[in-house]
Amino acid sequence: MSNNLLRNKKGIIFGALDENSIAWKTAEKIKAQGGEFILTNAPVALRMGKLNDLAKKTNSIVVAADATRNDDLENLIDKTLEHFNGKIDFVLHSIGMSVNVRKGKHYTDLNHDWLTKGWDVSAVSFHKLMQVLYNKDAMNEWGSIVALSYMAAQRVFPDYNDMADNKAYLESIARSFGYFFGKEKKVRVNTISQSPTPTTAGQGVKGFDGFINYAEKMSPLGNATADECADYTITLFSDLTRKVTLQNLFHDGGFSNVGVSQEVIDIVSKNS
Ligand SMILES: NC(=O)c1ccc[n+]([C@@H]2O[C@H](COP(=O)([O-])OP(=O)(O)OC[C@H]3O[C@@H](n4cnc5c(N)ncnc54)[C@H](O)[C@@H]3O)[C@@H](O)[C@H]2O)c1
Repeated sequence: MSNNLLRNKKGIIFGALDENSIAWKTAEKIKAQGGEFILTNAPVALRMGKLNDLAKKTNSIVVAADATRNDDLENLIDKTLEHFNGKIDFVLHSIGMSVNVRKGKHYTDLNHDWLTKGWDVSAVSFHKLMQVLYNKDAMNEWGSIVALSYMAAQRVFPDYNDMADNKAYLESIARSFGYFFGKEKKVRVNTISQSPTPTTAGQGVKGFDGFINYAEKMSPLGNATADECADYTITLFSDLTRKVTLQNLFHDGGFSNVGVSQEVIDIVSKNS
């Protein structure tokens, strides 16, 4: 159902890799709500060729950018401003990667060069992106910037590994940069803390099936899907949430405020 919530709004979407990606679903929903965007991803992800299918489907263009590289980000923002012949209204940062997770390194035995790489991709890239947007004055007043997070930023999930620290850093950048973006440009910056979701990044976490089943049993409304996350993101890009900023917003079916659910008590009681 479209309410044209994003009519005349223009933006950039980072991180659509394939049909399962949260960013992919968000792009489709933004299009349905009347918004326009440039799609971007790292050159290595573009070589998979899938993003072009989404570009065709949504009548958008693709500009490659490694989100850790300032020159790529500058080029992306310049091309975006040129393409739309003006400033933009929304940006989705949907990027995450840990080399330690990929290579199965335990948290107590991390490779710190890999840690630095994952931190740069998953957290510092958000600062780099906002710094380029800010300095090029690329955002319209009452624009909205959203990054995706996970609640391992607040609580321990042993297998989430160094991504937990990256998410804590990401959420802090949203607050710190969001202050200046709000004060100087009237732009809001938030993170959405999403339920476990079966995507390439999600499934890369050890024990993901256990993770997602546990969260499903703990959440009174059940896990939030990628489609539902896309719906929520649209509200944050719309004019209906203009004074929401510097927040980490849980989109998790209630998981974050549940101590234990009856389903989990029943399972644990059976096993004891
Ligand atoms: N899947 C989950 O369970 C879950 C839960 C909460 C939050 N998130 C977050 O949602 C976001 C999107 O992940 P997803 O689950 O859709 O998985 P995904 O694998 O589909 O998306 C991750 C994206 O990051 C991109 N990326 C990696 N390195 C990059 C770089 N250097 N420059 C630019 N892009 C780069 C990848 O190409 C990919 O498109 C991530 O921040 C992730 O941590 C995911």
